[in-house]
Amino acid sequence: MKIFLAGAGGALGRRLVPLLVGAGHEVVGTSRSEEGAARVRALGARGVVVDALDADRLRDAVTAAAPEAVLHQLTDLSAADGAANSRLRRQGTRHLVDAARAAGVRRIVAQSISWAYVGGEAPADEGEPLDLGAPMPRGSMVGAVAELERISAELPEAVVLRNGLLYGPGTWYAPGGPVAAALRGEQGGPYLAGLTPDAGVSSFVHVDDAAAAVLAALEWPAGPVNIVDDEPAPATAWLPVLAAALAAPAPAPAPSPSPPSAAEGGEPAEAAGWARGASNSLARTRGWTPERPSWRTGFADQLD
Ligand SMILES: NC(=O)c1ccc[n+]([C@@H]2O[C@H](COP(=O)([O-])OP(=O)(O)OC[C@H]3O[C@@H](n4cnc5c(N)ncnc54)[C@H](OP(=O)(O)O)[C@@H]3O)[C@@H](O)[C@H]2O)c1
Repeated sequence: MKIFLAGAGGALGRRLVPLLVGAGHEVVGTSRSEEGAARVRALGARGVVVDALDADRLRDAVTAAAPEAVLHQLTDLSAADGAANSRLRRQGTRHLVDAARAAGVRRIVAQSISWAYVGGEAPADEGEPLDLGAPMPRGSMVGAVAELERISAELPEAVVLRNGLLYGPGTWYAPGGPVAAALRGEQGGPYLAGLTPDAGVSSFVHVDDAAAAVLAALEWPAGPVNIVDDEPAPATAWLPVLAAALAAPAPAPAPSPSPPSAAEGGEPAEAAGWARGASNSLARTRGWTPERPSWRTGFADQLD
């Protein structure tokens, strides 16, 4: 199949190109820089330089590729700029879907996230609504995710993959990455935000498992599917395991506003109500199984 991969130079895109090429697909992959496009070529795809915020250039690139499917793996997270990422989700998706329609493309597989659901006790399945009423700044992030999903669904065959927190080579969580630096106190800011040892539950997924889901989703029915590992877990459980894997100190529990318990000297900090993780039951019924079923062993196995 001829495929246009927007975001081929990203953490996920770089793992995806060899899978697509290995499966016999003909891939045109984008990066914003010539260096990035050269790396895409080295992986076996045709690399093109294009900025998704430039609607005309993107339409020309998609038209020239004449693909049968478009893969949307655009994020703008390398500088941890949430506003830039939301802009790309809204405008970049708009431009990509317009370009796909102009080229007669029916199918898109788009990257979304699995932590935009409303709060609840159990890990979320795809039937749960998105948390559109969340206060800022979460509200603006969820709004942009909803917009990405809504615009993608303008194409007749839109599969939206709601990924867990990505770890593995090239991600924030890899050895030498910004999370390791934040745990060592060498870097703070946004990278510290998710590193509070509280009871909030997260779902992770390794980039290679997420890439395998994109390949499989070329054949899936339309709709959202959670792509997460088997073990949604509270930060009190996964954070010490991550810190050990990165040879960094585990953060101490934050002081609780409630009175300390006599035995432990305090409760973990109160978790955000939406932090519930997600279920991969639907993805499993589609035939996807994570090769790294848990962060417990996966965090220690993040090298290329
Ligand atoms: N989904 C999650 O789980 C999640 C959540 C929070 C953080 N993160 C972290 O986010 C990081 C993602 O980093 P990344 O290396 O994939 O880089 P990134 O900067 O997020 O870029 C991903 C891809 O999108 C492309 N892109 C970005 N802006 C673009 C634009 N305006 N037009 C066209 N293409 C554009 C990039 O192109 P270029 O090749 O030109 O860079 C790249 O191919 C990972 O470290 C991950 O840990 C992920």
